[in-house]
Amino acid sequence: MTVRSIIRSCGAYLPDRIMTNRDLEDVVDTSDEWIVQRTGIRERRIAAENETTADMAIAAAKAALAHGRFTAADIDGIIVCTSTPNHTFPAVAVDVQAALDIRPCPAFDLQAVCSGFVYGLNVADMFIRSGQCRRLLLIGAEKFSSILDWTDRTTCVLFGDGAGAVVLEVDESGDGSLNDRGILFSRLYADGRQKNILYTSGGPATTQDSGYVVMEGREVFRHAVSNMSQIVTEVLEVNKLSADRIDWLVPHQANVRIIEGTAKKLGLGMDRVIVTVDRHGNTSAASIPLALNEAVQDGRIKPGNLVLFEALGAGLTWGAVLARF
Ligand code: UT7
Repeated sequence: MTVRSIIRSCGAYLPDRIMTNRDLEDVVDTSDEWIVQRTGIRERRIAAENETTADMAIAAAKAALAHGRFTAADIDGIIVCTSTPNHTFPAVAVDVQAALDIRPCPAFDLQAVCSGFVYGLNVADMFIRSGQCRRLLLIGAEKFSSILDWTDRTTCVLFGDGAGAVVLEVDESGDGSLNDRGILFSRLYADGRQKNILYTSGGPATTQDSGYVVMEGREVFRHAVSNMSQIVTEVLEVNKLSADRIDWLVPHQANVRIIEGTAKKLGLGMDRVIVTVDRHGNTSAASIPLALNEAVQDGRIKPGNLVLFEALGAGLTWGAVLARF
């Protein structure tokens, strides 16, 4: 018998407002052609002024509960992966807990920026395998539009808002092999030497505000391509797995060129890669659960499928998780 955590259900929330590349041409000196060519992004969702990260997290969590026919009483752990919380404290996770009326249980935010959801999958898996939680809500939620410098064309065209959520549940039917359902393998990294290539210009203990996103795009791109290639190779090697066993790659959605590079390294055709960056932009910790939700709801990802998640974000942080649905 092997204790595993299975992704049982998922849900998502996207704000109503669509901002196209053409809309951005009125905001900064940019063009639809440049954005599409360099990133693959065509449009992104932008939250309403009074719509918060917690609002989006709650909506995604409700959708994930409904999808799995769970009620609040089934949940005994909440992790929200976000870098754009409503407040410095308390955590968005307790907003979710209060709104859904979930009983006292571990509830906290996890901040690993765009790698947040892969970090979250690993942490949630450890909570479940250690016996501390049986059914845990894991949410990625971001309102990046509120930490963008809307005069900086090198960053403001890249990001969007949204939230995605999953319910992870303990399962004891596995035999410890890669044929088991559930989270099979996780690998996380960070390298603080690269902290100055992607950061916010402020924070509570420095400028006393949240600051704005600052990025050396070309440098981050270089690390993203190389670290993602390295980590997917590592996942395959450690697990003695050939790439043709992977049914779906669900990557962080920052730039379609990074996604294509990773798929190429794996030898996976783009028909086995979930891509939402064209419609969502980069929603940081929300991008993977948003992409996952889309592919589960439209029937591409099915029970039994082997799925590889990977992401890289500020820190730099990066990681990958292998899971069977
Ligand atoms: O999710 C966290 C991880 N983040 C990422 O993975 C993002 C990684 N980086 C990237 O995706 C790419 O580096 C970008 C999309 C950000 C930029 O693409 P690039 O091909 O690396 O462009 P660049 O930064 O080298 O800029 C090329 C040119 C520059 O002009 P000059 O100096 O060559 O004259 C920029 O000023 O493009 C210019 N530029 C723009 N032009 C029109 C930069 N932003 C824009 C813009 N519209 N929005």
